[in-house]
Amino acid sequence: MADLDNFFKKLAKGVAQSRLAVTGAVISGVILPVLLLFTLLDVSGAVRNPYFGFINYVVLAPLFLLGLLLVSIGMLLRKDDEDIGLFTYEYIKEQLTLPGRFTRIRKLIFLVGGLGGGTLFLVGLISYSGIQYTNSVSFCGQFCHTVMEPQYTAFRNSPHSQVSCAQCHLGTESSWSAGAKLSGIKQIFAVAFNAYSRPITGLSSNLRPTRETCEECHRPDKFHGDKLYVKDQFLSDKENTHVQTLLLMKVGSGGYQGRKAQGIHWHVSPNNRVSYRTTDPKKEKISEVRLRREDGSETVYLSESPKAGEENGEMRVMDCMDCHNRPTHVFLNADEALDQKLLVGEIPTTLPHIKKVGLNAIQQEYASLDAARREISDHLRNWYEKNYPQIAATRQDELRQATAGIFQAYRENVFPAMRVTWSTYRNFIGHRDNSGCFRCHDGLHKSANGQVITKDCDACHIILAEADPAPDVNKLLQENLRKGKNLVKDDGKP
Ligand code: HEC
Ligand code: HEC
Ligand code: HEC
Ligand code: HEC
Ligand code: HEC
Repeated sequence: MADLDNFFKKLAKGVAQSRLAVTGAVISGVILPVLLLFTLLDVSGAVRNPYFGFINYVVLAPLFLLGLLLVSIGMLLRKDDEDIGLFTYEYIKEQLTLPGRFTRIRKLIFLVGGLGGGTLFLVGLISYSGIQYTNSVSFCGQFCHTVMEPQYTAFRNSPHSQVSCAQCHLGTESSWSAGAKLSGIKQIFAVAFNAYSRPITGLSSNLRPTRETCEECHRPDKFHGDKLYVKDQFLSDKENTHVQTLLLMKVGSGGYQGRKAQGIHWHVSPNNRVSYRTTDPKKEKISEVRLRREDGSETVYLSESPKAGEENGEMRVMDCMDCHNRPTHVFLNADEALDQKLLVGEIPTTLPHIKKVGLNAIQQEYASLDAARREISDHLRNWYEKNYPQIAATRQDELRQATAGIFQAYRENVFPAMRVTWSTYRNFIGHRDNSGCFRCHDGLHKSANGQVITKDCDACHIILAEADPAPDVNKLLQENLRKGKNLVKDDGKP
């Protein structure tokens, strides 16, 4: 016991003799209880605030480690009156063979082992929960609130709102994770010094390989058959007429259990390797497409008018993200955003021309969200006062509800602070503005022997009805089946 006492006295004296070590010990000593308490609160889920985790793992934990480091450096640099000669063979031999010394050394080893182990355990626990924290949706989505608001908002309203940011952006492989953490540190600096781009673009090249990401949950060989796709729209007429577009979407599959790949997911079969060349960072303009089939034959389709320099573009193998580039950050266009609110009744369809007026209001440019809230409201009130004074005077509740719904459609898709507006992020599923599928399926990509990547409307979907006020699905299906436009069969042949 006396030996142990002695050891602590010596340790304390050693620390006390070095100013550096004292500083370190004070820092670590003060921080330790706070750090332990915060980590416990965080791990147990008692506090859910992105700034809390940040202070604990990104500020306190490194400070604690710094303190420990200072103690160690201080001890090493300390000028000692007794020369320990720690690393000489004779010294160690002497320590281990002298009987009295031996027990002292053993105690020392146990003590150092215990203290070191405890510290290691602590550091491990804190780093583990720190990594968990920096991977969390709350850190990624809410910490740099303004910067991530567009992506976070769209994510919250998407089918993937239960998937964490890290599952798509980092994954579990340590190499991707470490790379992302490094670039994350760069990004924290970018935010601190206001040096990030508005809007944020071009992240897709940093994502983990997508087949790996998406296929953790989806099996491309398993979704198959045709899917009835119903699109609700409201016309810009006085009645805000509700119409529907019905498409029989040939979702298809990558082939499974001996069945051939067919339909839209024919592209993801390992037997059909589609790659393309582009110089455009947004991947909108595609100058060359190559298709390698199962038998090894290759077809090269060239765009009709490749511009000079395009042949230098990078070649990329097509994957899920070339069509599903917006699986979770789904930004709608103004028309679709209002249609959604009209469909669920957040905007009453009983107000004449509400679709037209609303569309006009949300397509203006506003300096901030507050300005948008005010001016959209003014816009609607003025319009109804001028054109339907009766309604403006007597149906104020309805107007107020419509204003709220229209503003909501705006704020879910437009973010003035990040310069994200209606056309900032384009969705490649389908062929909006002749983009998406039509980047290749435009009828203008031809092979040397005259094959063209199909633009046949029936190749991807059968149009059962287009903007029809009252489509009869059963009748339409029967009619199309009779015309021979039957569903894709399992053997992949129509
Ligand atoms: C289902 C997968 C998935 C999840 C979950 C996900 N992302 Fe993304 N994210 C993507 C894809 C794919 C892109 C690339 C889009 C493109 O290049 O067109 C992207 C792009 C981005 C961008 C670049 C800007 C843009 O919209 O293109 C940011 C920023 C971003 N994500 C942040 C987040 C944050 C924050 C979260 C969590 C709140 C998150 N992501 C969750 C798939 C995902
Ligand atoms: C961690 C699991 C997970 C990952 C990873 C994931 N998804 Fe999903 N995905 C889901 C779930 C669950 C649903 C169904 C959500 C629902 O219907 O509520 C879904 C739905 C979808 C849908 C149908 C959406 C709709 O509107 O019905 C598409 C398309 C899709 N995912 C594509 C992707 C793509 C592309 C990726 C890779 C970038 C991906 N998913 C990554 C779990 C995942
Ligand atoms: C050639 C473009 C393209 C590629 C490549 C592609 N998809 Fe799709 N996918 C579509 C289209 C188009 C739809 C149906 C329309 C829609 O959902 O809006 C669809 C639908 C889906 C659905 C919903 C199926 C259903 O029955 O509701 C899932 C899940 C999905 N895709 C996952 C994936 C995954 C995972 C990959 C990569 C392995 C992938 N897709 C590759 C175009 C593509
Ligand atoms: C990078 C170029 C590229 C893009 C983008 C692309 N495709 Fe294709 N697609 C091809 C090529 C090449 C073929 C094979 C040639 C052909 O069938 O005309 C093909 C074939 C198809 C086929 C016929 C498959 C079969 O059974 O023979 C369908 C269906 C299809 N694509 C749907 C889509 C849809 C839907 C999208 C958009 C969501 C899309 N493609 C986007 C290159 C592309
Ligand atoms: C390469 C495949 C492909 C070809 C070829 C194609 N489409 Fe489409 N089309 C799609 C996909 C995929 C969607 C669904 C988009 C979505 O999920 O939002 C779509 C959606 C539509 C819609 C619904 C529009 C909307 O607002 O969402 C219409 C109408 C349409 N297509 C008409 C046509 C016509 C007409 C042609 C022939 C000139 C054609 N398509 C050729 C893939 C294709």
